[in-house]
Amino acid sequence: MVQDREQWSSTLGFILASIGSAVGIGNVWRFPYIVGANGGGAFLVPYLISVLLFGIPLMMLELSIGRSTGKSVVSAFRSIQQRFAFAGLIIVAIVSLILGYYLVITGWVLAYALSFLFGQPMAFDAFTDSYLPLIFFLLSGLAVFVTVRSGVRKGIERASRYLIPVLIAILLFLVVFSLTQPGAAEGLEFYLSPDFSRLTDPGVWIAAFGQAFFSLSVGMGILLTFGSYLRGESLFRSSATIAVADILIAALAGLMIFPLVFASGLDPAAGVNLAFVTLPSAFAQIRFGMVLGALFFLMLFAAAITSAVSMLEVPVAALMDSYDYPRRRATLLVFAAIMLFGLPSALSYTALGLSVFGLPFLDLADYVFGTIGLIAAALIISIVGGWFMSPARICAEIGGCGWRQSAYMALIRYGVPAVLLITLAGNILLSAG
Ligand code: PFF
Repeated sequence: MVQDREQWSSTLGFILASIGSAVGIGNVWRFPYIVGANGGGAFLVPYLISVLLFGIPLMMLELSIGRSTGKSVVSAFRSIQQRFAFAGLIIVAIVSLILGYYLVITGWVLAYALSFLFGQPMAFDAFTDSYLPLIFFLLSGLAVFVTVRSGVRKGIERASRYLIPVLIAILLFLVVFSLTQPGAAEGLEFYLSPDFSRLTDPGVWIAAFGQAFFSLSVGMGILLTFGSYLRGESLFRSSATIAVADILIAALAGLMIFPLVFASGLDPAAGVNLAFVTLPSAFAQIRFGMVLGALFFLMLFAAAITSAVSMLEVPVAALMDSYDYPRRRATLLVFAAIMLFGLPSALSYTALGLSVFGLPFLDLADYVFGTIGLIAAALIISIVGGWFMSPARICAEIGGCGWRQSAYMALIRYGVPAVLLITLAGNILLSAG
């Protein structure tokens, strides 16, 4: 056990930081739409199965690797077997590349929050036709940099301690408001009315698998790194708590979004369009729209910042562990690199309009790193941890070696990689077709 390694101040601190990581813009702009488009309430069946059978086991594996080695990704993998250090490096690279474009979107969110606060909401086209997005990209990067530089307790943990309660309070307020809007019933109908016939469609299952891994921030080395700051604590209980919070917040986001969208007579959408086009025009039509819009984007900003912070910690901790860098220096170096990685994505939504194969660079990065890379990273972790870490060590972490643990090992060794391969193939086929 490493003696002077920083630790979470308490289990609650660790849980809040992990919820901060899991709850991101994906909960708000991805989950509700996926539910609406894939069978409504019926989608909960494949989704809960994915979280329970594959998401939580992989979360526990990551936490086990981190806690038992007391190291972050690259060093932890090296201590499992020398040759896996490179695999660890790949994961660090993928998270860093995702963070680059994630911060661009975080910047947009910040800009929108401010524009609503000042009562002057922007049109997305006009905004991305200027160079303003670059400034907000830099500001978001700085916020994340300052947080991570302050350390595990004083930075990462503290940010979530303040921001997660604020986020939940704003969300609950918006849900109540939204449900009392005239179009609420129609929105709920689209969101929730179950269509069980959709469950025979493999595409629905693939969507559930992909969203479960993405939303839990699992398979990225984040929980592995967080586990290295953790002492004795039931990994199942922690993982389950984080997963339940993540699901609840995503489900609540749907309760606020669809009633609003339908009340304004708009069509439901996902992603960039939902957050930056559809919802702003919904806010523009309703009473108190400016305040509500400001609250909505502040909530989204809190969600995005805590996720970005958790991503930044992965390369920072790797540098600290591998080269004994002090945190300040490691953070500065990584910050500079991330800003460079994110620059093409940031520029792709400015007047310059940088695009590749006719696709804005950011969209390409989201596909290559955020979709394919993310699944590949999860696959690497499940294989290195499941097949090469000694089962006895895993048992010790997850509380014994009985039949439950044998079932768990089978899931980790066969179930999780199989599901990840299916998700990978499904995503590639879907994007080709
Ligand atoms: N879990 C975050 C969300 O739902 O928005 C996104 C995310 C964060 C994905 C960190 C991947 C990651 F490594």
